[in-house]
Amino acid sequence: MTSIKLAVIPGDGIGQEVVPEALKVLDAATPLIGGGVTFEKTSYDLGAERYLATGEVLPDSVLDEIRTQDAILLGAVGGKPGDPNLPPGILERGLLLKLRFELDHYVNLRPSKLFPGAASPLANPGDIDFVVVREGTEGPYTGNGGSIRVGTPAEVATEVSLNTAFGVERVVRDAFARAQKRRKKLTLVHKTNVIVNAGKIWTRLVDQVGAEYPDVAVDYQHVDAMMIHLVVNPSQFDVIVTDNLFGDIVTDLAAAVTGGIGLAASGNVNPDRTTPSMFEPVHGSAPDIAGQQKADPTAAIGSVALMLDHLGYADAAAAVDAAIVKDLESRQGAPARRTSEVGDAIAALVAG
Ligand code: NAD
Ligand code: IPM
Ligand code: MN
Repeated sequence: MTSIKLAVIPGDGIGQEVVPEALKVLDAATPLIGGGVTFEKTSYDLGAERYLATGEVLPDSVLDEIRTQDAILLGAVGGKPGDPNLPPGILERGLLLKLRFELDHYVNLRPSKLFPGAASPLANPGDIDFVVVREGTEGPYTGNGGSIRVGTPAEVATEVSLNTAFGVERVVRDAFARAQKRRKKLTLVHKTNVIVNAGKIWTRLVDQVGAEYPDVAVDYQHVDAMMIHLVVNPSQFDVIVTDNLFGDIVTDLAAAVTGGIGLAASGNVNPDRTTPSMFEPVHGSAPDIAGQQKADPTAAIGSVALMLDHLGYADAAAAVDAAIVKDLESRQGAPARRTSEVGDAIAALVAG
């Protein structure tokens, strides 16, 4: 008997709608693991409502409790746009990024695969199958900066991108190891022609670590040109390694070309396994469709597959992925379903 402790943070907006569907599918997949494995779920009411009611974003006591879990499933965070009581960044930085940083999720794994049945907006998408290894703990996300003379015409704001050799090397190593097991191609995405200081660290470490992987072909794209290649010829990519901010941007486009943000799953992984890794859809709280059962829960369900795989249950993960593919195939020409109907359908496919 193994009991896996799973922290569940539905969060805000459609996070509250997609997470129950992801849990339905997890429940359907759990018997496939065998060996009496069960999930002991603890739900945390973190997010906009709790903040607005209590002023709490992520109390230390809650963080300490989450640290003792085996994995985390998160929906999305982010309140209603324009709410004067909830300025942008409070939840994003104080909850989501705090979890990623405190739990040292230095690999933000974002696979992009055009599944049969998924509708790419591209006329000729080709066989898209790449994975973005986005650095998760550094870059311009660390809050390294500040503002002076706020609100005056002389206001100055800085947001310094932090890049350490330690931080870059470990994520680059992870990316090479993945490329080695895949199609042996790694693309560094950066903006080394302008962001030259950080660019030097990334280039040097990709060269250095790459020397240990002579059979992995390495290339480089500036992030702006990457927007072209991802639309014109996305099937050329295998593993993409990039910094925190570029990775954020690249993965929304990657989601769009592989059938939409509602399908894009991700993992915030600590490859050293010293902390619980956190799995979540790439999308946000989508206030424009929240509360209407219009959100596609597939990204959250795919995140459960990534979690199962991370926990060592590759067969159960594959069963969830296969169910997603089958469900996508059934969508063509069919009327749109409610969030819960998609979850029911995928859970039923997993259960067989
Ligand atoms: P978003 O991803 O929430 O929405 C972008 C667009 O995609 C919207 O039109 C939305 O309706 C659509 N969309 C998103 N998920 C969908 C789904 N599952 N099914 C169907 N359509 C879907 O991004 P945004 O509008 O830029 O951000 C909204 C809020 O979410 C902000 O507060 C932002 O900070 C936050 N956010 C949080 C996360 C996260 O928690 N990981 C990620 C991105 C944005
Ligand atoms: C994502 C989101 C987050 C990010 C925000 C909400 C902090 O956009 O997970 O892609 O930029 O990483
Ligand atoms: Mn994003």
